[in-house]
Amino acid sequence: MSKLLLRGRVLTFVDEPKSIDDQSAYSYFEDGAVLVDNGKVVDVGEYAALASVAGPQALIVDHRPHLILPGFIDTHLHFPQTQAIASYGAQLLEWLNTYIFVEEQKFSSTAHADFIAGRFMDELLRNGTTSAAAYCSVHRTSVDAYFAAAEKRNMLMIGGKVMMDRNAPDALRDTPQSGYDDTKTLIAKWHGRGRAHYAISPRFAITSTPEQMEMSRALVREHPECYVQTHLSENKDEIAYATSLYPSAKDYTDIYANYDLLGSKTLLGHCIFLSDREIATLAETKSVAVFCPTSNLFLGSGLFDQGRFKELGARTSVATDVGGGTSFSMLETMSEAYKVLHVQGQRLSPFASYYMMTLGNARALGLEDRIGSLRAGADADITILDSRAKPAMELRMRTATTLAEELFILQTMGDDRSVSEVYVAGKPMKSGLDKAAASHG
Ligand code: GUN
Ligand code: ZN
Repeated sequence: MSKLLLRGRVLTFVDEPKSIDDQSAYSYFEDGAVLVDNGKVVDVGEYAALASVAGPQALIVDHRPHLILPGFIDTHLHFPQTQAIASYGAQLLEWLNTYIFVEEQKFSSTAHADFIAGRFMDELLRNGTTSAAAYCSVHRTSVDAYFAAAEKRNMLMIGGKVMMDRNAPDALRDTPQSGYDDTKTLIAKWHGRGRAHYAISPRFAITSTPEQMEMSRALVREHPECYVQTHLSENKDEIAYATSLYPSAKDYTDIYANYDLLGSKTLLGHCIFLSDREIATLAETKSVAVFCPTSNLFLGSGLFDQGRFKELGARTSVATDVGGGTSFSMLETMSEAYKVLHVQGQRLSPFASYYMMTLGNARALGLEDRIGSLRAGADADITILDSRAKPAMELRMRTATTLAEELFILQTMGDDRSVSEVYVAGKPMKSGLDKAAASHG
């Protein structure tokens, strides 16, 4: 494979911005370039300097005037809910029963799972997301479909079979033993194969019996290399029900703590109504609270208080939570994150937003050596952004004078149309998708 030199305005983070104008947190090259070889970033810097390093054989792709960023990372979503986005009128528990547990039954069909898995990966890429952590359905074959679709595109993806053995329709229930066995089989098959990472996935305390939680504990103990993903404290009725099912737990967080499910590889979706004690437990165990703004607004769940997590030293990440979430776009997600924090008197700066979608989420996953930045040696997962992709954006951009303003306009007005290209391990993917979209009719 020959060297690739991507030319454009390059933005990549080295740390979390400490203030609205903290320039030490990022590198920005106005006439910049990223040199890619064999799927990896070789170097990043000024175009003129890199052009001479790259040599005459390198293929130069001129993305000017667009921005070149690391691919976006989504730390929580549900691949079987791709066709259930925008299901009307219900809060969490009713929404799960009315729409989601009906939709997820379709994934007993391998053909359906294969079809949706392919479209799901393409939709992520179309939106500039190159890596994600997703729940599959309870069916083992849905995990095969998911990782096979990721492998075909060479995407770094995290995923796992949902385990649930109560409070769900018969067709969606496993048992403590079958959930354990299937998870073991899937870890052996997929974890560490190519770019795949497995996440042990008890859905949440309501849908797992104490016996299944015990089995989850065993899986985590036997596979410390895997992630754990579950849901925590999203909705008030959910909290009341979960804690009633585990009466000896101090609170909702304590349910997971009692089964040793908290840790630095644990991703906890939502975390809206946690007490200081619970947040302190997340901080102590280094667990990650996942902020899902479009979902929290859409399901009428509540407002994530990111400031409190920061104050108490707990880790956070950000995610779409499709299909409770309403968009695959991390740009649209950050637009809603801004609003959720704004209404609570917190101000999310544009640079902090782009940090969160890239290096911040990579750090939350412990994958900052591989993804989330364009440092030398990183995987060449790259997103190209066009700030003038829509007429209204073009008009608005005429008045923008700073990079911060441009980033904020992109986040507030942008969507998949603002992603002009996306590279996965150095391979351009978006043009192929546009052709496929045209043929979907
Ligand atoms: N809690 C348990 N399952 C789910 C789910 O699928 N979506 C959301 N938003 N919350 C959940
Ligand atoms: Zn979720």
